[in-house]
Amino acid sequence: MTQTLEHPGFSLTVEGKECFATELYSARQIQEGIEEMGAQLAGEYQDAPYVVMVPILQGAINYAVALRNAMKRAGAPPIVMEGMRASSMDKTRSTGTVKIIKDLIRNPAGEDLLFVDDIFDTGLTLRGIVRHVGGSNPKSMRVTTLLDKPSNLRIPGAVEEIGGVATVFTMEEPSFVIGFGLDYEEEYRGLDYIARVRMPLPGGGFEE
Ligand code: IMP
Ligand code: MG
Repeated sequence: MTQTLEHPGFSLTVEGKECFATELYSARQIQEGIEEMGAQLAGEYQDAPYVVMVPILQGAINYAVALRNAMKRAGAPPIVMEGMRASSMDKTRSTGTVKIIKDLIRNPAGEDLLFVDDIFDTGLTLRGIVRHVGGSNPKSMRVTTLLDKPSNLRIPGAVEEIGGVATVFTMEEPSFVIGFGLDYEEEYRGLDYIARVRMPLPGGGFEE
């Protein structure tokens, strides 16, 4: 993919270290990628009466809104949204457990559920959510994330268990990323692009 850098980068402190963030996916690349995903998912749901989109709060909000608009433009059936909130993260590390902080209020039985999240990392959050909601007899469950991080901490079998993940971008490396919903300690979610956080090198400078 050709990359047009629109942002020169900025410094930020992550876990006490002075880091440098550089654009990884531009706002335009993100919009184009979501447009394609919207068309694909609209096709998958062409026979459904309506779709219940479930953004995993807070990180999924930007992607979910953009995806809903893209699906509408592609002729999808009506989309209702209801968020869920779970937590598996402690700063930049996964804690290993999923807590359901906000469940669905709507009864998911018989519904076509589209879970939306910002990034698929270890898979713990989405596996926990799908396991939890799957017990209430939804008609179908589908998972989409904006990013797929090739994490070496990926839970074996997680992708298969949740029926696959439709992702817009597959990252080449498991870097920490911020922007377009993704945060570091609740900051940077509002960037309209995604930046990769480059850690400082012992001899000076930052990771490539
Ligand atoms: P998982 O449960 O390990 O798949 O983690 C999913 C959640 O961890 C995401 O929804 C994010 O909130 C968070 N996360 C994972 N990687 C990153 C990252 O690079 N930047 C910001 N948040 C991340
Ligand atoms: Mg987060």
